[in-house]
Amino acid sequence: MADINTSEAQISLKGFLDIDVDASLDLFSEIELLKKEKNAVVLAHYYQEPDIQDVADYIGDSLGLAQQAEKTSADIIVFAGVHFMAETAKILNPNKKVVLPDLRAGCSLADSAPADEFAAFKKLHPDHIVISYINCSADVKAMSDIICTSSNADKIIDSVPKNQPIIFAPDKNLGAYLIKKTGRQMLLWNGACMVHEIFSQQRILKLKTQHPEAKLIAHPECEEAVLQYADYIGSTTQLLKFATTDNANEFIVATETGILHQMQKDAPQKTFIPAPPDNMCACNDCPHMKLNTLEKLYLCMKYEEPEILIDEAIRLRALKPIQQMLKISKAVGLGG
Ligand code: 13P
Ligand code: SF4
Repeated sequence: MADINTSEAQISLKGFLDIDVDASLDLFSEIELLKKEKNAVVLAHYYQEPDIQDVADYIGDSLGLAQQAEKTSADIIVFAGVHFMAETAKILNPNKKVVLPDLRAGCSLADSAPADEFAAFKKLHPDHIVISYINCSADVKAMSDIICTSSNADKIIDSVPKNQPIIFAPDKNLGAYLIKKTGRQMLLWNGACMVHEIFSQQRILKLKTQHPEAKLIAHPECEEAVLQYADYIGSTTQLLKFATTDNANEFIVATETGILHQMQKDAPQKTFIPAPPDNMCACNDCPHMKLNTLEKLYLCMKYEEPEILIDEAIRLRALKPIQQMLKISKAVGLGG
């Protein structure tokens, strides 16, 4: 339990606990102590800052994180990622406390499908079933038939009978890639990720001529203009696995830069070059993911806030398509 009364108003206003942290504290050992004291588990996405990755009990892609959340025996899930990921953990664990270091850690892709607009779109196509990418709100999940992630989307699509029309939401880039990969026509929602749309085809091609031996590896949220040159396309976990096991020594990485930390740790002898954005800013850092810091992680473990809460009726409707995804993933041997 929290040992001081944190102000709900403060959290609702700022989205995180704005409390000074004693600079002399060793946050790494404090977090380890809190894990034991509270039976808490820290689940982190690869886009989190290196310190958070280093203190996590598990680091993974969206599917791996959902699978870990499903099977954990911890009382508290400390989710170092973005809101839709923590929300998925809560949907799977209504009786556990799920905390997120900064509630403002959203996702531009999830935001590109507002629930009311999506409901109206769905109503126009009553004969379609809805496959939604996990990067969406609980409300959109509740309107979906099956959830997918970038590591299982092709298998999820293949599980749907061939004559069944499909709406795919919210990522149009991932959707277009999947149409090509599976040969299935799908109706796409017009959403995209602000980070993966920023890569410059021109600058990547220039980089490739400067590093002729380097392989280009890309997340499927990137545009076709980039994906067409990729030597390998996959989820964050799949990109990490490919980069560390493939015999190339140099890679241009077209996804958020946080993943480079694990790549460098797992294959210190290899060179990983972040793919350049179409301007000079650090736009291939996800501004939402990077709202979480080690200090905020420590505070949210200590005070058990901010907490993820979901309306029970929405949770129950959102649970079904997530369970369907987990079942299919297990059946095809994808983790779990
Ligand atoms: P992964 O499931 O591949 O980790 O992707 C999550 C994400 O948000 C990519 O932008
Ligand atoms: Fe969302 Fe893009 Fe950030 Fe992933 S990188 S969490 S899709 S905004």
